[in-house]
Amino acid sequence: MLLKKEIENQFLLIDKFSNKNFWESFSPSLEIEKKKLDYKINFNKKENKENIENVVHQGYTHFKNPGLKIPLDHIKRTIKALSEKNLPPVFIFAYDELWNLQYQMNSFLKKLLDTEYLQLPDFWAWNVKPGQSGWKPHRDKSGGTLFEDNTPKSITVWIPLTKAVPDNSCMYILPANHDKFYNLEKPFGLDYGFPGDLTDIRALPAEPKDVLVWTQHVLHWGSNSNSRHVLEPRMSIAYEFQRSDIAAYNNPLIKPNEIPSFEKRMALIAKQIIQYTHMYGFKDDLVALAKALLKKFQQTVSN
Ligand SMILES: [Fe+2]
Repeated sequence: MLLKKEIENQFLLIDKFSNKNFWESFSPSLEIEKKKLDYKINFNKKENKENIENVVHQGYTHFKNPGLKIPLDHIKRTIKALSEKNLPPVFIFAYDELWNLQYQMNSFLKKLLDTEYLQLPDFWAWNVKPGQSGWKPHRDKSGGTLFEDNTPKSITVWIPLTKAVPDNSCMYILPANHDKFYNLEKPFGLDYGFPGDLTDIRALPAEPKDVLVWTQHVLHWGSNSNSRHVLEPRMSIAYEFQRSDIAAYNNPLIKPNEIPSFEKRMALIAKQIIQYTHMYGFKDDLVALAKALLKKFQQTVSN
């Protein structure tokens, strides 16, 4: 049972985290409810075609420096500050810049999914320190997220904010065309062992502001980093999107051309902490805080 003082402290903390001013002063170089969606990359027909073919054939594509505009240093500094306060980096989604960033891939995602595609309320941010690892081998969703011809109904977009290489942890993937269980409903995950040859595993080293897009049934993971590396800790963010003409995989779906209000962002961030607690085993006080934030702003996400 919580002591009276602990309960009081928790109330103070909820008030603090619910307050836009707190987040503005936490990172004055980033903005909240000020930015407009005013930039997206214009991919040409050939780029769209090649990248869609990659996604359908091998389950992923890698855009090398496609032209994202993002205040990288400010975002990295803020993620570092969050980690130093023992807060998960997902709180970076309090800031406009993260919502602005997903929109920059809009012209490609319209071609890959559909013109009215939607953002899923599933996103995350990583700060993988030396010796730590990314998420273990998994599929983001079931084989039902693919059409018969392997065209995706939903996808994940992963963006490194630092160099991401084997030493500081990068993405590894079993390409779809080497995966014997790809686009099958069962088995899910690694229930029947690894579904390909070990030599088919592909490392996906990436530079900051590259973009990786993968289907939600491709097998992938973030590798263990070298505990003695001298690079920056790997930082990255991920978003998920789905077609508009299928049932929602999670609620509430978000229009990619609308930046959620501050209150809605807080509710969504809280939702992430709750739904990904099993990946990290977050401490009870953090989960309690997330639940309280979600409760406070529940009405902003119950649409
Ligand atoms: Fe994943």
